[in-house]
Amino acid sequence: STQLGTAAEAFAPSNIALCKYWGKREAELNLPINGSLSISLGELGSRTSIVESDSGSDQVYLNDKLIEPTDRFATKVISFLNLFRRELQQPVVIKTVNNIPTAAGLASSASGFAALMLAINDFYRFGLGNEVLSAFARMGSGSASRSVFQGFVEWQKGLREDGMDSCAQRLDLEWQGFRIGLLKVATGAKKVDSRAGMQRTVESAPLYQAWPEQAAKDLQTIKRAIEDKDIELLGQTAEQNALSMHATMIGSWPPLLYWQPESVAAMHRVWELRALGVPVYLTMDAGPNLKLLFTAEYEAQVRDAFPELTDLDLVAPFG
Ligand code: PMV
Repeated sequence: STQLGTAAEAFAPSNIALCKYWGKREAELNLPINGSLSISLGELGSRTSIVESDSGSDQVYLNDKLIEPTDRFATKVISFLNLFRRELQQPVVIKTVNNIPTAAGLASSASGFAALMLAINDFYRFGLGNEVLSAFARMGSGSASRSVFQGFVEWQKGLREDGMDSCAQRLDLEWQGFRIGLLKVATGAKKVDSRAGMQRTVESAPLYQAWPEQAAKDLQTIKRAIEDKDIELLGQTAEQNALSMHATMIGSWPPLLYWQPESVAAMHRVWELRALGVPVYLTMDAGPNLKLLFTAEYEAQVRDAFPELTDLDLVAPFG
């Protein structure tokens, strides 16, 4: 029935982890082995709307295109929705638009599931608080727990078996001059998604033993660096954290290397720029692209050294 004219719309930002989430202690609920800390990307993210369908079946759109119901994207969206509408089976139209420059090669599952969760909360008038919404978004994609919030965000791993304490919180810390550069160096869909990558690493990499302790320590160091607006300490810790995560992947069997030759070339360019005295650091996720971490005072030097960065690839998370 359409008498209520039910409709909802929500936005959630994408986020970049400075201390990475890598490894699940429970795969069904996406409960992480370690806590993580990220920075949300302001206006870059996903906008999702839900309206009642008058066609008698669910419809899923991505970037204004109707998606086949059997497509992976559509089945993920609908099975997530089904966690919340079990007894209210009315069909819906769900539309997601990502404004993350596709050229940036950024995954949109974090912002996508967070925006979907916020829209679901509105559509069904659940009235849930942000931390509960974060815990629920986590079930769609772990990193989505952090995309419920703007700014610097910590996702606490939690201790409970039901996962309701495994949710994110916004940190009460701002850093006006903090900048992120989205450096796309290679294209092509990845062959191993983060879920499969984590599983392989946890099961087969001896190096993974060292990861939970390092991540816990890095998280505290990064928090301190943000408090002190210390880009050297933040950058160094975030870069080492990301490369240590990749080291655990490389030490898996079969080996898991998300880097392309272009990734390694870009890493050297970052290190060369740093050798010239520019405090610029890199982080990488489960893909070939780099994210640069620096401050506004060095933006000109970073742009000069990386002319491929467009205005859209430069993010000022605090406006
Ligand atoms: O939550 P997922 O499945 O998108 O996994 C995220 C994994 C990393 O991006 C590599 C790290 C992170 O914390 O975002």
